[in-house]
Order: sequence, then C-alpha cells, then structure tokens
Amino acid sequence: MSAELFARVKDSVPDEVLADMAMGAVRLEEILKEETASDSELVQEACRLTLNAGGKRLRPMLALLAMLAINPNGDKEKAAKAGAALEMIHMATLIHDDVIDEADTRRGQPTASATIGSTASILAGDVLLSRAMRLLAEVGSIEIILAVSRSVAEMAEGEVQEVAVRGQFDLDEEGHLRILHLKTASFIEACCITGAILAGADSSQTACLARYGREIGLAFQIADDLLDYRGSSKKTGKSRATDFREGCATLPLIRLKSTLTEEELTFARGKFGNGVTDAEIEMICGWMEDRGAYNAAAEDAEACIERAMDALSGIPESPFRTFLSSVSSFVVTRES
Ligand code: IPE
Ligand code: IPE
Ligand code: MG
Ligand code: MG
Repeated sequence: MSAELFARVKDSVPDEVLADMAMGAVRLEEILKEETASDSELVQEACRLTLNAGGKRLRPMLALLAMLAINPNGDKEKAAKAGAALEMIHMATLIHDDVIDEADTRRGQPTASATIGSTASILAGDVLLSRAMRLLAEVGSIEIILAVSRSVAEMAEGEVQEVAVRGQFDLDEEGHLRILHLKTASFIEACCITGAILAGADSSQTACLARYGREIGLAFQIADDLLDYRGSSKKTGKSRATDFREGCATLPLIRLKSTLTEEELTFARGKFGNGVTDAEIEMICGWMEDRGAYNAAAEDAEACIERAMDALSGIPESPFRTFLSSVSSFVVTRES
C-alpha cells in the first residue's frame, strides 16, 4: 500500500483490517516476483524497471477489498493470485503506454521503452499480458476471465482511440470522457468485479461494486491528468506536462479553452504537441490555475467520487467498505 494511502486510512480502519491488507500485499509481491521471472534478459529488465520501481498496487488492493467487503472469509490466496494477474496486466499496459507516449520516466525510474527500446518493450509487455491471463485461468473462474479480458480489450481500444485523436486541440469533453471510460475506468471496474466474483456476491452487490470501480476509475484518470500539469515529478515519478507536449487533450485543457481570448487560443493551439518550451508550459499552467480550469476538472473528479460513494451504500457496512470509501477520496487527492 502506498504510504500516502496508509496515512489516509490508518485512523478510520481497525488494525486487524490493516494487518489483513498488509499480509495480502506481502503475498502479492511474492507471486509477482515468481510470475515475472524470465530467462530472457530483456523481459527481466522491463519487469525489473516496472516492478521494483514500486507503484501503488491499487488494482490488486481493490480486488482484495471488494472481496472482503462482501465476504470477510473469502479465499485470500485466490485474491492474491488474481491480484497479481491484474497488476501484471496493469504493468504491461504501462510499458506499452510509455512506448505510445514516448515517456522517459515512470515510477521514478527510466521507462522500459527509454531503456530497452520500443520493440523489446512491446514484446515484454505481451509476455506479461499472456502470463497474467494464464495466472487468471489458474484462479479458475470463467466469469473473472470474461470480465477482465473484456476490460483489457476496452483498454486497448481506449489507447488506440486516444492515439487517433492525438493532436486534436479541439477534442470535446464527450469524446474525451469516452476514451477515459475505455482506457482506465473499465479495468478498475473489472478489478472490483473480480473481488465481487471471488466473494460470491449476488448480482446487485456486484453491480454496486462495478459502479464504484467505474466511477473511481474515471476520477482516477481525471486526477492523473491534473497531476500531469500541476503535480510534482518527484512525487508522481513521471515527467510533467507530457499530455500537452504530446498533443493529448485532457480535461484541464478542455476546461481552459473557454476562458482564453482569441489570441491566447491561437498561441496555445500552435504550441499543442508542437515543441512547447518549459517556460510556455509554465504560462499555460498559470492560466489553468488562475482561470479555474484546474478547479473545474477537480470538481468533475469529485462528482465521480460522490457517485462512487453512492454505489458503495448498496453493500453492507463494514470496515472494508470504510476502507473502500477512503480509497475513493485518496484517488482524487493523491499526489503520486
Ligand atoms: C497509472 O496508474 C496509469 C493510469 C491509469 C493513470 P497508477 O497511477 O495506478 O500507476 P502505479 O501503478 O501507481 O505506478
Ligand atoms: C493511462 O494513460 C494509461 C493506461 C490506462 C494504459 P496515461 O498515458 O494518461 O497514463 P500515464 O500518465 O502515462 O500514467
Ligand atoms: Mg502515458
Ligand atoms: Mg497514454
């Protein structure tokens, strides 16, 4: 669990629950280590860069929490295996995403693509993805495999659609949000559904957890896009303003546009994905702050969190549900 999240939950969640989560996290790391071992040096290197560099392990944690929120006696070994598969899928998509985004830093380390190149990174990601699917099969639930594979396909569609609109300064909010649903929210939803299935949840509880996952997933990506502009690279472990530099329109920019004069619009449009300097990025970030674009995007993320909390009210009250509600506020206020 990230230190930032631990600080958030430690006062609202009983020690036994924290101990359960800590044990689950230890087992998760053991399985991840075993499952990502490879004879190939390039795969080893890609995994080392991504795995050892940390990461919040949010997706496996959501699967475990969702399971325990419905059934505190759920099978934790299965949850750890399924969680490892989910994290490996996440790692693979990050490795591929960094090739697509030409990103040089991830989790505070050089990215796989910057280190071993695009071709080896794509293949190493494929190795991880296929191993994750095998591991998920070992968990033994066709329903989980269906839910996860559907979301992995959506994630890839989302990434493809994002590439297709790259460079479009005038991308509208609706089109943008559709991409966020596909590339991020769908998989986070699938992690919660995985937990629900492992718990033997009924269809109404599964639907509540799915809705919770989708909403926090959307909020998570909006928060990520805000961090891209206003976060500290030291904390996020990623380079700043990659989205503007790469011509990827996200909510802070979409919200900013309506506040710009014709002259400012022409300037921003000309610089979008087109060799913008650090000083120009600072100026654009200053506009986002002063003209309320950051706040407007943060309010959109908050609205998702309210809907996520509403969904949570459909499952029984428990310390695990409290934990899930703390995760939802963490998602939008996190700094890394
Ligand atoms: C990054 O995910 C990719 C997005 C969907 C924004 P995380 O922020 O969960 O990355 P790690 O796993 O903590 O590095
Ligand atoms: C998220 O997109 C990546 C996936 C969902 C695969 P981003 O490109 O915004 O994520 P970061 O900022 O690189 O982590
Ligand atoms: Mg990226
Ligand atoms: Mg991307």
